[in-house]
Amino acid sequence: MTDRPIIIDCDPGVDDAIALMLALGSPVLTIQAITTVAGNVPLSLTQRNARQICELMGRFDVPVYGGCPRPLVRALVTAEAVHGHTGLNGITLPEPTLPLQRQHGVSYLIEALQQAPAPVTLATLGPLTNVAAAIIQCPQILDAVAEIVIMGGAVTRGNITPVAEFNLYVDPHAARVVFESGVPMTMLSLDVTHQVLTTPERLGQIRAIGTPLSQVAADLLTPYGASDRQQLGLMGAPLHDPCVIAYLLQPELFTTYDAQVTVETDSPLTLGQTVVNPQRAAALAHPVQVADTVNAPGIYQLLQDCLATTPAAAP
Ligand code: RIB
Ligand code: CA
Repeated sequence: MTDRPIIIDCDPGVDDAIALMLALGSPVLTIQAITTVAGNVPLSLTQRNARQICELMGRFDVPVYGGCPRPLVRALVTAEAVHGHTGLNGITLPEPTLPLQRQHGVSYLIEALQQAPAPVTLATLGPLTNVAAAIIQCPQILDAVAEIVIMGGAVTRGNITPVAEFNLYVDPHAARVVFESGVPMTMLSLDVTHQVLTTPERLGQIRAIGTPLSQVAADLLTPYGASDRQQLGLMGAPLHDPCVIAYLLQPELFTTYDAQVTVETDSPLTLGQTVVNPQRAAALAHPVQVADTVNAPGIYQLLQDCLATTPAAAP
């Protein structure tokens, strides 16, 4: 795990921010770069939020790139009701001094993968627009991708529609490009992330850690997830994106099964739905590893350990 270079593509977003804190605070993950995409909030905010979190974590060594400001085909759909108008509802961080890289995030992904001395892992936390655009522009980069670990999709129940998960609903065409590329993928869908819920007890444990980072995390998580709690009847805010980082850190926290995953891109009723077919797995060179179960207490232990031991950057 330690020397595997990782590029995180994200749309911060509250749970993206927690995921970035977990990744950037880990001494064992090599985060090569962060690319940002429009999703939870517009790109102007996702790129700013990513830079703010890098500075919060003291990670001025991690370059942040701005990618696509809208999906491949559809108009952008955002989620301010969930993440707030800034995308980081609950906290106010200083204006970032970490510069946004001048190079476009898609161009960076292509260049980084073309020049990669070793296979790179992509961790995607938002709509797949950047990754799909890179694959379309330069399919050869797939040879340099070790695997894509994605937060997205829904096997049994969606969140933004009854059948579709937000990331794939926002850009179903990009998701189809990525899932059809044949690249090794692990899909952490709502079916596992809805098992990782920030209950009032867990939120209290995070706040009780008492470090500056644990306060930031608790302030982010307190308002987060109200809509999921009300609309989906969940017992707490689901930690969607941190599950991707937890998988990179401790894959044994999850069980998976192989399946063909097909993304609906035509039906207005089921746009973005992931149709998961384990019976077709044997016919595929690289079936998708679909996460099935998760050790939620183990996820929270990883997060709490990170928040307890990682110093926040000097104000
Ligand atoms: O459906 C949840 C996913 O959509 C998470 O990645 C969240 O941040 C939003 O991007
Ligand atoms: Ca996200």
